Amino acid sequence: MSRFSPYFGEFGGTFVPEILVPALDQLTQAFEDAIEDPAFQAELGKLLKHFAGRPTPLYEATHLSPNPKVRIFLKREDLLHGGAHKTNQVLAQGLLTQRMGKTEIIAETGAGQHGVATAMVAAMLGLKARIYMGAKDCERQQPNVYRMKLMGAEVIPVHAGSGTLKDAVNEALRDWAANYDKAHYLLGTAAGPHPFPHLVREFQRIIGKEAKAQMIEAIGRLPDAAIACVGGGSNAIGLFADFIEEEGVELVGVEPGGEGLDTGKHGAPIHLGRTGILHGMKSYLMQDDEGQVQESHSISAGLDYPAVGPQHAFLAQTGRAQYVAVTDDEAIAAFKTLCRSEGIIPAIESSHALAYALKRAAAATEEEVLLVNLSGRGDKDLNTIMQLEAGQ
Ligand SMILES: Cc1ncc(COP(=O)(O)O)c(C=O)c1O
Repeated sequence: MSRFSPYFGEFGGTFVPEILVPALDQLTQAFEDAIEDPAFQAELGKLLKHFAGRPTPLYEATHLSPNPKVRIFLKREDLLHGGAHKTNQVLAQGLLTQRMGKTEIIAETGAGQHGVATAMVAAMLGLKARIYMGAKDCERQQPNVYRMKLMGAEVIPVHAGSGTLKDAVNEALRDWAANYDKAHYLLGTAAGPHPFPHLVREFQRIIGKEAKAQMIEAIGRLPDAAIACVGGGSNAIGLFADFIEEEGVELVGVEPGGEGLDTGKHGAPIHLGRTGILHGMKSYLMQDDEGQVQESHSISAGLDYPAVGPQHAFLAQTGRAQYVAVTDDEAIAAFKTLCRSEGIIPAIESSHALAYALKRAAAATEEEVLLVNLSGRGDKDLNTIMQLEAGQ
């Protein structure tokens, strides 16, 4: 009997071609065995500490908070090896690849952070990696394309569709269907068919687990709200997982509002999507009147995805978590504020979570403690910022 149900309420499931069912069954078995296996946990723990640099710090951003009544704490996933939270679960899936006796990794990437983490871990574990990336994202994230190649990965630009993450996922799934006997599909977020949403959550849970202990050490209690940006949803579910049972902690996911929710140019499927099926799962999807998947838009490549992981759809539907949207402009303003106030250059993805925290703090009349997941660092985004400034 499987430990995890494929569904979160009506969301989730395994909507894949028949040919992939054995590969997903094999993965479910390997994942469930591994998390019960002390030897696997010890090996992963060792790599998380000595290769990736965990635990990451919790930092109180005293200069950032616009309101003395509001304390803002940052969980510094930007300091993880690779520059983002992605490394956590890639290490775990790399070990699972070896455990299943496979030698190759297929991955997709949006911002390139997942691709970089995959290339890094594949090099370290001696696995061959090929990484699908939308042609538009290759353009937006050139330094990451170069990093992946330096570490020996093959980067395959995808020109189909909008040339972004959704198209890269389609290509990666096609490759997996043809090669699953020797290749593992190392999915990059808490989305896709079962067991990926559970698997990615369990291996990202460490973010919230550490943050919880660190908050208690810092202030003797849990925060009032835990806040994270939501692309597919892995850094957010990693932060939320250990707080879901803590009813006093508000969970806030921040979707990319792009140019504005009323412009059609956004990436906010929880706000404006409908239930549908994409990439093997049932979840909220941005769709047109005919049910075709709509193109998403965000200034941040890592948030530019028209769907969301099924557990977020469930948390939104049940009201346990609330989801807000932040525009490109608000995220860029928050990016600049953190650079100047604390000497930390955040990823534009993470700047969405910061922007919400700043707005909330500015409006607060009571004392409050906010925990923000700083999911990654902004080095990869400098081109985007420089181009924006040049155009102004
Ligand atoms: C720094 C950073 N944060 C957040 C995300 C969004 O992904 P997820 O919602 O899976 O955390 C990405 C994706 O590339 C990223 O690079």
